[in-house]
Amino acid sequence: MFGKRTGPPEAKPKTTPEIPDTDISADRQDPKKEAAAPTQVAAAKPVAAKPAAAPEQKLQPAADHSDLFGDERSKYNETKQSIFASLVDAVDLTELGKLNSAQVREEITDIVGEIIAMKAIVLSSSEQQTLITDICNDVLGLGPLEPLLARDDIADIMVNGPNRVYIEVDGRIELTGIRFRDNAQLMNICQRIVAAVGRRVDESSPICDARLLDGSRVNVIGPPLSIDGATLTIRKFKKDKLRIQNLVDFGSITPLGAKLLGVIGACRLNILVSGGTGSGKTTLLNALTAFIEEGERTITCEDTAELQLQQPHVVRLETRPPNLEGAGEVSMRDLVKNCLRMRPERIIVGEVRGPEAFDLLQAMNTGHDGSMGTIHANNPREAVSRVENMIAMGGFNLPAKTVREQISSAVHVIVQAARLRDGSRKITHITEVVGMEGDVVTLQDLYTYEIRGEDENGKLIGEHKPTGLRPTFWDRAKYFGREQDLVEALGM
Ligand SMILES: Nc1ncnc2c1ncn2[C@@H]1O[C@H](COP(=O)(O)OP(=O)(O)OP(=O)(O)O)[C@@H](O)[C@H]1O
Ligand SMILES: [Mg+2]
Repeated sequence: MFGKRTGPPEAKPKTTPEIPDTDISADRQDPKKEAAAPTQVAAAKPVAAKPAAAPEQKLQPAADHSDLFGDERSKYNETKQSIFASLVDAVDLTELGKLNSAQVREEITDIVGEIIAMKAIVLSSSEQQTLITDICNDVLGLGPLEPLLARDDIADIMVNGPNRVYIEVDGRIELTGIRFRDNAQLMNICQRIVAAVGRRVDESSPICDARLLDGSRVNVIGPPLSIDGATLTIRKFKKDKLRIQNLVDFGSITPLGAKLLGVIGACRLNILVSGGTGSGKTTLLNALTAFIEEGERTITCEDTAELQLQQPHVVRLETRPPNLEGAGEVSMRDLVKNCLRMRPERIIVGEVRGPEAFDLLQAMNTGHDGSMGTIHANNPREAVSRVENMIAMGGFNLPAKTVREQISSAVHVIVQAARLRDGSRKITHITEVVGMEGDVVTLQDLYTYEIRGEDENGKLIGEHKPTGLRPTFWDRAKYFGREQDLVEALGM
C-alpha cells in the first residue's frame, strides 16, 4: 500500500534510521536468538500470532519495564533497531503518518510480523506486542514519554537530559527508569513537540514553549543553554480539572473556607490567586470560575490555554510568541488591552507577570468586577508588592503611592495557594485588601491555615480557620443575597 513495500522487507539495515528506540526493556528471553539466517521469506508468516487489529485508539502506553537494565535492555534495543531499520526500508513513513493511529498500528503490526518472520527472531506474542507498541509510539508519538503521558496520576514530567526523567505523583517528585537512547533522540522528540505548534528548537533558538495535542503545557530548553542535554518540562493537562469540592476532599480547604470562596466569587469581587510555582494557582483559578454566572461574558487571556470554564459565554485568548525572525509577538498586555474593547464582564488573566498588571488593574477599576488573575508570590503581602514592581518595571512612571492606590481599589481579595513541604497543596490565606493607611496597602486575613506539627509519616498537621475579622465586603454580600452564607462561612 505504501509504494516502497513491493516485496518482503530486506534485513539490510539502512543508514541509521531517525526514529529512536524506546529504552524500555520488555520482560523477555533472548529476543536476539536468531535461527539460521533465512533468506527466502516471500510467504513467511509471523512466528507469533498476529495480534488482532487494534480498535480506534490513541497511542498505547508501552509497558514500563524500566526496571530492566543492562544486557536485556540493550538486546531489546538492538532487536528493535534492526526491525525498525527494516521497517523504514519497507514503508514510506511519511505516508504512514497520514493514516490514523489505528490504521498505522495495523500496518506496522503486519509489517513487523513479516520482518520478525523473515529474520526468524523468536518472540512470544506479548513480546511482539510490546515491540509493536514501542515502534508505534516512536513513529507516531513521543517515544519513551508515551507511558508517562498515558498515566493520569502524574502532574508533571521533568526530563533532565536523556538519562533522568522525573515525575510528580501525589505531590512528590520521583525518578523514573525511563531513558532516551541519547540526547539526539531526546532532541528529536522535543523537535516533534514544538513542530506541532509551528516552532523549532535548535542551537540558535534553544528555548521554546509548546503544547501537546492533549493540552499539556511544555517547555523545552536545549543545548547549549542546558548543559547536560535537552530539558523538557511537561505540566500534564488534567481532563477533569479539580473543582472546589475536590479541593475540599483533598483537605486543601475546609467546606466553610470553600463557602467563603463561593461568596467571594458570586459577589463579583476581583481576585488575585497568589502562589509559588506548581502550588495550584491555575487549578484554584479554574475552580473559582465555577462561581461565574451562566450569562456573564467572560474573556480569558493565557500564555497557554489551561483554563476550562464551564460557562457557555466564554472567549478564550492566547498569547503568541515571536516567530523565528523575532516578529509577530502578541503579548499578554496586547491581549488584555484588546479585551477591554470586547465588552467583557469578567476578564481572567491566566498569569500576570508583566506590564499587563496595569491593564488588569484598570479593567478591575472600571467596572469589570469579578475579574481574576494569578500571580507568583509567596504570601498576600508579597503579591501586592509584586504587582507594584510589575507596574514600576513596565515604565509607567507613576508615583508609588498612586500605584498602591490603584491596587488597593482594584483588588478585593488575594487567595494564597501553597505546596507545603510534605507535597500537599493548601489554600493558606484568604485575605482581603482593605484600603490604604498612609502609603501602605492594608490587608486583613479572613481565613488562614496554621501548621501545628507533623505526624509520624511526615505529613503536616494543620488547621484552617477564620480569623474572626469581619470583611468589608459584607454589604456587597448582602446586596448579592449571600449574607447568610458569609455568616456561616466565617462562623459569625
Ligand atoms: N489542591 C490540590 N490538591 C492536589 N493537587 C493539586 C491541587 N491543586 C493543584 N493540584 C495539581 O498540581 C499540579 C499543578 O497545579 P497548577 O497547574 O494549578 O499549578 P500552578 O501554580 O498554576 O503552576 P505554574 O506555576 O507552573 O503555573 C496539577 O497537576 C494539579 O492538578
Ligand atoms: Mg499555572
